Amino acid sequence: MHTSSPTSAATPSNTQSVFTWSDDLLTGDVRMDDTHREFAEQLSALTRTPAAEQLERYQAFLGHTVAHFAQEDRWMQATGFAPTNCHSDQHAMILETMQAVVAHYLQGETDIINRMAEALGEWFAQHAVSMDAGLAQHLQSVGFDSATETLGTPQTAAAVAVMGAGILS
Ligand SMILES: [Fe+2]
Ligand SMILES: [Fe+2]
Repeated sequence: MHTSSPTSAATPSNTQSVFTWSDDLLTGDVRMDDTHREFAEQLSALTRTPAAEQLERYQAFLGHTVAHFAQEDRWMQATGFAPTNCHSDQHAMILETMQAVVAHYLQGETDIINRMAEALGEWFAQHAVSMDAGLAQHLQSVGFDSATETLGTPQTAAAVAVMGAGILS
């Protein structure tokens, strides 16, 4: 099946581009990819909404993005990343910009959500295939199960079993 590029489609009525999902964005981590599909769907829906009606949808999208980034930051912390690292820093910078957009929109700059959406589409297409794909690979290499958020390497499991046997005997 043909999948279009993340930023190529155009809306019927104006020059605003519509973000569309592409399987090229898959990272291999099922939970991360599910979250990314939701991100793409919400971003796409936002770009198909008239500017005057975008705020509520944008705020819901912002909330989803806060949770999306917190999830990845949490997985990084659980698997040995330093609390500050360039991936988490990038998340924080994006969220700060997304939050600032709300104030500008409320001050009458009603095209700003469309501009932010376009920039986010371009950013995400890069981020998903670089930092997120790298994180997915790292999670897999250390045996981290993102569905249960547990470290399940054979070594970890064996150490826990030995510890359990010592306590219970
Ligand atoms: Fe992500
Ligand atoms: Fe990320």
